[in-house]
Amino acid sequence: MTDPGDNDFLSLRLKAVHDMAVEGIGDLNERRIVDVGSDHGHLPIFALINDGFACAVLTDIHEEPAKRSEQTLRMYGLNDRAAVFCTDGLDGVELDHGDIVVMAGLGGNNMIDIMSRVIARGNADKLKSIIWCLQPQKSSDKLRLFLSEKGFDITDENICEDRGKYYLIIRARFDGIKRDLSLEQRYYGPVILERVRRKEPQVSEYKRRLDKRFELSAQSHEDIRMMLEQRSDTDD
Ligand SMILES: C[S@@+](CC[C@H](N)C(=O)[O-])C[C@H]1O[C@@H](n2cnc3c(N)ncnc32)[C@H](O)[C@@H]1O
Repeated sequence: MTDPGDNDFLSLRLKAVHDMAVEGIGDLNERRIVDVGSDHGHLPIFALINDGFACAVLTDIHEEPAKRSEQTLRMYGLNDRAAVFCTDGLDGVELDHGDIVVMAGLGGNNMIDIMSRVIARGNADKLKSIIWCLQPQKSSDKLRLFLSEKGFDITDENICEDRGKYYLIIRARFDGIKRDLSLEQRYYGPVILERVRRKEPQVSEYKRRLDKRFELSAQSHEDIRMMLEQRSDTDD
């Protein structure tokens, strides 16, 4: 295995998720990185070694990856700075003030279920201090709708290209303010649309690919058909 200090320890996708999760946050040594659906545990291991996080929490719904992560943490001498839970999402895991929670490679609906159960615990003050970095494999429109209706601000969105595939990354924070997203913002992303307006090349190419996909699915999806009819031309 490569060294967690090496640049290629994380895939381009996971490195981009990591970078968005920690960007602009100064006091990482007082925070925990919480990786939900951690699998191999590479992202929190990288973060513990390179960012100086006080500690990490790793969860996985399956026993095998949870055990594998424990072994890898031991191998790097990090087991006393990390706790691994075999659980669904964050069930049974208490979040702390200022936690940075990452969910990468999970479906948007799965993320919604996991976050809904966290919200149901209450404690809005603690929730406001937590940063969520989400890389949904699918259903990003449903995830954005959920975030906006539940009072989360989508503070950043970006695209990462890894081995020819585009991955969406969303950073969000609960502030209790419910927002109405337009259909276009739901399907493309409010920050993604801003980046397209600024003519960022990679994001513009991502949007062109989404345009094609939406045009193909418009016949069978009323929302998408309406969205295409209403949309402003952001990439002209
Ligand atoms: C595709 S892997 C992604 C691993 C890693 N986060 C990454 O992005 O490379 C998804 C992992 O999430 C776990 N998983 C799926 N649903 C989960 C849930 N509800 N709670 C915890 N772990 C989950 C799976 O067992 C698997 O290990």
